[in-house]
Amino acid sequence: MVRVELRNVVRAWEDFRLTIEYLEARDGEFLTLLGPSGCGKTTTLRIIAGFEKPDTGEILFDGKVVNELPPYERGIGIVFQDYALFPHMTVFKNVAFGLEMKRLPKAEIERKVRWALELVGLEGLENRYPEQLSGGQQQRVALARALVVEPDVLLLDEPLSNLDAKIRERLRGEIRRIQRELGITTIYVTHDQEEAMAISDRIAVMNFGKVEQVGKPLELYYRPKTEFVARFLGLSNILELKAKDGKACIGGLCFYVERDGKVRVFFRPESVYVKPGEMAEVVDYELLPGRIRLRLKIGDELILAERFLDELPFSVEELPARVDVDVRSFSILG
Ligand SMILES: Nc1ncnc2c1ncn2[C@@H]1O[C@H](COP(=O)(O)OP(=O)(O)OP(=O)(O)O)[C@@H](O)[C@H]1O
Ligand SMILES: [Mg+2]
Repeated sequence: MVRVELRNVVRAWEDFRLTIEYLEARDGEFLTLLGPSGCGKTTTLRIIAGFEKPDTGEILFDGKVVNELPPYERGIGIVFQDYALFPHMTVFKNVAFGLEMKRLPKAEIERKVRWALELVGLEGLENRYPEQLSGGQQQRVALARALVVEPDVLLLDEPLSNLDAKIRERLRGEIRRIQRELGITTIYVTHDQEEAMAISDRIAVMNFGKVEQVGKPLELYYRPKTEFVARFLGLSNILELKAKDGKACIGGLCFYVERDGKVRVFFRPESVYVKPGEMAEVVDYELLPGRIRLRLKIGDELILAERFLDELPFSVEELPARVDVDVRSFSILG
């Protein structure tokens, strides 16, 4: 297991600048880089791998600067978005490739390849060629190929984005299981917030070449520091209010805050509880599997509330025109 750190890393091109003051993947941690297309996720991963050199700054593995080490001496395993399997080689040969390059004895290669294929659930497919495999199976081969060299650090760049939703969900669970089993420090890139929440110990949300916030999934989800993080991770309510005497109110709904003046109050739709009353107008609603999403007007503002149907204090058929609103968890955006 290895701790990976980036310190004051800058990589700039004409129209893009990646700046990472500090980023750390702890020993055995599953860290995800999450952000929109073009924010610098792949560049960050390539810098960690050694395929890209930073203009300035340091990359450290267990406290040692690795800037001058080529990728193959960094002890990494890497999986790219497009699998990059060798089409003319069987599954076995694809997975064995890195070991053969290291000139390991044949019996050892055989044993390690079988171990890796079993780990990713591909036993029995050793002799197939990539074109004879489904997308999900090809991605498992790519994963086995990255794991077979027993790397200290596993780097995955949107490994599931070419797969359909069901397989994506299954495979992400398996990646997580394997990562836990091996305790391998993993840095995973995705632009899918649900995937990031499901799979990560911690998430680094990136935007325009910068890390906006790093934290545990629920910390980021319920306590985002910026509007970007709030909106990127899911549906948000953000109210711009004036606080006085420690209270910021709108239409009878009050938030107790620690400062006076302008505040931006943030809360998730599922933190909004409703019951019959007069506070807010029910503007419209949407049914989701097992849930209802209500659009409510309170003061001059619209907010979203989301509740499970079986905890709604009235039936959908008899939805009242007005409700009382209780926000049970909120935070203040910086
Ligand atoms: N070799 C290069 N020369 C010039 N610009 C580059 C180079 N590599 C990357 N960039 C630019 O850096 C920015 C970040 O690219 P990067 O591939 O890291 O984004 P990303 O977050 O991985 O996006 P995506 O989700 O689309 O894969 C982009 O604007 C890209 O055009
Ligand atoms: Mg990318």
